[in-house]
Amino acid sequence: MNAHPTPNSRPATPRPTPIRPMYLDCDTGVDDALALAFLLATPGIRLAGIGTVTGAVDAAVAAANTLNLLATAGRDDIPVAVGGFDPSAAARKTCVALHGTNGIGDVLLPRSRRRPVDESATELLIRLAHEHPGELEIIATGPLTNLAEALYLDPELPRLVRRVTVQGGAVFAPGNAGKFAEANIAANPEAAADVFAASWPVTLVPLDVTGTHRFKETDRRALAASTGLTQQALAHMLGTCFSYYEKHSSARRMSPHDCLAAAFATGDLEPEKMPTLRIGVDTSAGPRRGQTYFAKVDGPVDVDVRNGQNPHEARVLLSLRRDAAPSLLERILALAPVLSTAQEEAARVPEPAFATGLSESVAA
Ligand code: BDR
Ligand code: CA
Repeated sequence: MNAHPTPNSRPATPRPTPIRPMYLDCDTGVDDALALAFLLATPGIRLAGIGTVTGAVDAAVAAANTLNLLATAGRDDIPVAVGGFDPSAAARKTCVALHGTNGIGDVLLPRSRRRPVDESATELLIRLAHEHPGELEIIATGPLTNLAEALYLDPELPRLVRRVTVQGGAVFAPGNAGKFAEANIAANPEAAADVFAASWPVTLVPLDVTGTHRFKETDRRALAASTGLTQQALAHMLGTCFSYYEKHSSARRMSPHDCLAAAFATGDLEPEKMPTLRIGVDTSAGPRRGQTYFAKVDGPVDVDVRNGQNPHEARVLLSLRRDAAPSLLERILALAPVLSTAQEEAARVPEPAFATGLSESVAA
């Protein structure tokens, strides 16, 4: 018997799974911050760049928050770019009450030494798409302003991008920026309509699914008990959101909308109901501005003959097989704690004094 296997009988050496490049477009935001922590802790992906957009806070403040969060997590390698323009301030009042005046629950993070890169968020997105043709995955957790502008500037973009996951919209659920519209779509409905019409594969993660999963006080306490400064900061941010919801629904809990969308984009959550639907957006000036509309796609795919596109069609995640909160929490807790000496000292400050313990540094 031949003791040496022939080349053909040799078991194939498993190829390493390629690292998936991702671009995050966000309006950092407490649940954007949770999404960022989740992505930083996720193996097999690489955040190639982050663009910020005006939504819960101005794009510049969102960039400062993002840079500070990255510094806290020891990830000064990821470029952060500021988005182009301010779409609408319509949704902001609730945002301040919910996310605090600085967007991250009024938590004062140690200030990053970095500044945003010189290119705009749109330029960064376009450059990354060309550097990773067919590979770049976009996760959008704010208004779709930057994505729409990028589509306008570079019509090639849909061909280059692998998938776009958008947190936004509401199918059967009521809106959260007024009765009808969800905040990210309400902030710039025209941009949303353009993004849904483009010929790239879109997955929409609406309030129907994000609103039924919640972080509770036990989750917040688990974060607060972590040795990582990022996790502790997130615990304080959740505290601000919990106080807001406690006033409105007498429950200390909150839906981590953006984090759930990010976790679905990475493949960490199993869908239960996810139909392919056509999406429309109300871009009128009326009371339903920003409302998303959905219609079934029946029979064979109805291709737009003019440009080969299949406009307004997307996978729409309506429900998950399991409660998402435990997986989100577990991943965020796994984010490697990075503590400088000063941070270690700050981390030992008892919980309520966290923000003031770091008061010499500001978030924006
Ligand atoms: C969305 O609105 C923002 O307040 C959140 O960060 C999330 O992106 C939820 O409707
Ligand atoms: Ca957001």
